[in-house]
Amino acid sequence: MRRIWPPQHTGELDDAALEELYGYPAGRWLAVNFVSSADGALELGGRARALSNEPDQRVLRLGSDLADVLLVGATTAMVEEFRGAHPDAETAARRERHGLAPVPPTAVVTTGSLPVDAPVLTEAPVPSYVITTAAAPEHKREAWAATGATVVVAGERRVDLRSAVDALAVAGLEHVDSEGGARLFASLLAAGVVDELRLTVSPLLVAGAAGRIAAGVDIDPAQLELLSVVAESDTLMVRYGLRS
Ligand SMILES: NC(=O)c1ccc[n+]([C@@H]2O[C@H](COP(=O)([O-])OP(=O)(O)OC[C@H]3O[C@@H](n4cnc5c(N)ncnc54)[C@H](OP(=O)(O)O)[C@@H]3O)[C@@H](O)[C@H]2O)c1
Repeated sequence: MRRIWPPQHTGELDDAALEELYGYPAGRWLAVNFVSSADGALELGGRARALSNEPDQRVLRLGSDLADVLLVGATTAMVEEFRGAHPDAETAARRERHGLAPVPPTAVVTTGSLPVDAPVLTEAPVPSYVITTAAAPEHKREAWAATGATVVVAGERRVDLRSAVDALAVAGLEHVDSEGGARLFASLLAAGVVDELRLTVSPLLVAGAAGRIAAGVDIDPAQLELLSVVAESDTLMVRYGLRS
C-alpha cells in the first residue's frame, strides 16, 4: 500500500505504519467505515462484500482490530451476517500489543427488529450489546438479555445515539468502529458523534438502484478534512476528519 496524501508523507506503508495510520487517538473516537463503488453504491446484490477487495479488507480489519467496540445497525447485522469479531492469531497478537481486550464486542442498534436468534447474539465469542429504546417491547428486551447480551436503553422511541455512545464510553469502550449501514451513519451524523470517515473507493461501476453510504435523515452538510489517502493497485482508501 502506498500513501499518496498528505504530500509530505508519501511512500510505501509497512504493517507498523498502517497500524499507526488506522489506529485511534487517545480518548473517545468514533470512526465510520464504508466501501463504495466509484459511482457511489453502498451494496451490490444487497451486500457490501461484493464491493470489497483485499486492500479494503485490510484497512477494515485494522479498524476493528484496534477498536474497543464494533457498532452496526440492525439491518447490517442481519444482511451482512455479523457474528461478532473472531480474532485469529494475528489479530490476537495485535490486540495484546496494544493493550486491548482479546475480543471487541459488537453493539447493535435496534428499536426491535433484531431477532433474538441473530448470529450477532448467538455466535459472538463475547456478549454483544443491544442498544435500544424504552419503547422496545419488554419481551424482546428480556429475550435479548437472555442470550447474554447487555441491553442498553438509550432514548424513548428513537435510539438516542449520543446517549448510546456515552453509555459505551462509560463501559470503557471509547474507540468505536462503526461498520454500517447507511441509516445508522446518517443518524450518527445527525447526533454529531462521528469523528472520522474511512472510505474505500472500490474500482467498480455498478449503476442499478443501490443507496448511498448515508441516508434516511436530513443533516446540515458536514464539512470534511482530508486526513490521508492510501492506494493499492486501483483501490483508494481515504480517511476524512469531520470538521467540528
Ligand atoms: N458498503 C459498505 O461498506 C456497507 C457497510 C455496511 C452495510 N452496508 C449495506 O447497508 C445496507 C444496510 O443499511 P441500512 O441503512 O438499510 O441499515 P442499517 O443502518 O444497518 O440499520 C438500520 C436499522 O438500525 C436500527 N436503528 C435503530 N435506531 C436507529 C437510529 N437512531 N438510526 C438509524 N438506525 C437505527 C433500525 O432497526 P429497527 O427497525 O430494529 O429499529 C434500522 O432499521 C445493506 O445493504 C448493507 O449491505 C454497506
